[in-house]
Amino acid sequence: MQVYEGKAKRMRPLSEREVEVVFKDDATAFNGQKHEIFPGKGALNSNISELLFNYLEGKGFPTQHLRRVDERTLIVKRAAMFPLEVVVRFQVAGSLQKRTGLADGTVCDPPIVELYYKRDDLGDPIINDDHIRLLKLATPGEVVELRKLALQIASELRGLFSKARIELFDMKFEFGKTPDGKLILADEISPDTCRFRDMDGAGMLDKDRFRQGKGDLLEGYREVHARLMRILKAS
Ligand code: TMP
Repeated sequence: MQVYEGKAKRMRPLSEREVEVVFKDDATAFNGQKHEIFPGKGALNSNISELLFNYLEGKGFPTQHLRRVDERTLIVKRAAMFPLEVVVRFQVAGSLQKRTGLADGTVCDPPIVELYYKRDDLGDPIINDDHIRLLKLATPGEVVELRKLALQIASELRGLFSKARIELFDMKFEFGKTPDGKLILADEISPDTCRFRDMDGAGMLDKDRFRQGKGDLLEGYREVHARLMRILKAS
């Protein structure tokens, strides 16, 4: 069967129901213009993502995750993916900072939900509900549900990470639909897809280290993983 090569993962359908996902060691930014290999990143991200998906399942949110094969390979449920990135922001950073001129760290109260069209050739542009309707990327009812789910999951994660002394500024989710029409959380949740800031002054613990060329990328990812393991064990 066909293999889908993404920037950070490789996907191979195994059957009608299952897909194998290999987390690569590649880091990219600015739509692939910046690219580097960090041996061990794939293993770290697959572990962090698995921990978070299991945690969210335990909180009643259906996810794509099924089981682990090896240190950087997971088996997930096959689902029809929405070509959308749903970003939830609790504090200003990144493209929102650029778009608004607000200071990094400004609190978004209530949190902001943004939708991006997942199209590398267009540079993943931000779009609104009317564009989604025009492009038929999801039904209006599905968009309402995606926004609601993303906000609920993000709030759950913000609470979890605060216990690890990590401020979750923002994060990106992707969702899929199972053959029976259920919306499930898909793709990954990792320091590639979230902004993690240390609450005690150690700064960025996520892919912004690579985007901004500041600090050791994997050291940040290892710290997120270690703290997550600690708080999940304690709870
Ligand atoms: P942004 O501030 O660059 O729009 O990013 C918002 C969040 O989404 C941030 O946590 C990083 C994540 N993200 C991805 O997961 N993939 C992407 O391609 C981009 C641009 C951002």
